[in-house]
Amino acid sequence: MHELTIIGNNIIKLDAVDSTNTYAATLLKNQKVTEGLIIQAIHQTAGRGQVGTNWHSLPGDSMTFSVILTPSFLSAQMQFYLNIAISLGVYEYMLSKNTKELLIKWPNDILVNRKKIAGILIENTLKEIQIQYSIIGIGLNVNTVIDNLLLTATSIFVETKRISRISDELKQLAQCLDKYYMLLRLQKFANLKENYLQHLLGFRTMQTIKLNGLEYNIRVIDVEHSGKIVLEKENGQQMTASFKEFQWVL
Ligand code: BTN
Repeated sequence: MHELTIIGNNIIKLDAVDSTNTYAATLLKNQKVTEGLIIQAIHQTAGRGQVGTNWHSLPGDSMTFSVILTPSFLSAQMQFYLNIAISLGVYEYMLSKNTKELLIKWPNDILVNRKKIAGILIENTLKEIQIQYSIIGIGLNVNTVIDNLLLTATSIFVETKRISRISDELKQLAQCLDKYYMLLRLQKFANLKENYLQHLLGFRTMQTIKLNGLEYNIRVIDVEHSGKIVLEKENGQQMTASFKEFQWVL
């Protein structure tokens, strides 16, 4: 098993907080923080998702936590590689659950059976052209029952019928995140990207998306350093897109 080097050596466990990402940002403003610190919440009262959305979970049901990283080795223009490394860490953790079809949905959702099981919110603070701090927020549905999930979401319990101990799961997930963060520190950019592409929804296979109200069949060709996705339409025409410029039809 991978020995922890950075992520997960220290965990602050909170009973209730608005958002672990917000808590982490406040902590960074007020004190010196050791890299790899995890802030875990049993209950988030105002969990945040990507682009201003909310992240809801019932108290004690899920993993809701943030990791504080200081990837000063990473230039701002390569910051999407943090999304790649973290997605791969969550992906590898989920592999051990032996669920049905496991995929990464660009940019960084984890899907089981085409339903979302985990979401990732990465908030970077830049200092000139380097990343000074990164707050990696992860929400993963663990023991959530089907009645408490959106139709588009699933949980480890729904997929495996097994109840898990959140604290044990968090340790396992931290190990997987740590492993991929190490690869990032070693600047294994090409390996990380290749691995990420291999697990990406629609990579070299037909996938329907909705763009400006119309449905298209596309294939994912690549992801640029900037994080933009490169898609190829059925007629061979290629296009790049940023987050939220189109929707996946699952
Ligand atoms: C998304 O899929 O939109 C991202 C969801 C991220 C949710 C996690 S839960 C822990 C951390 N704290 C937050 O407020 N959000 C992230």
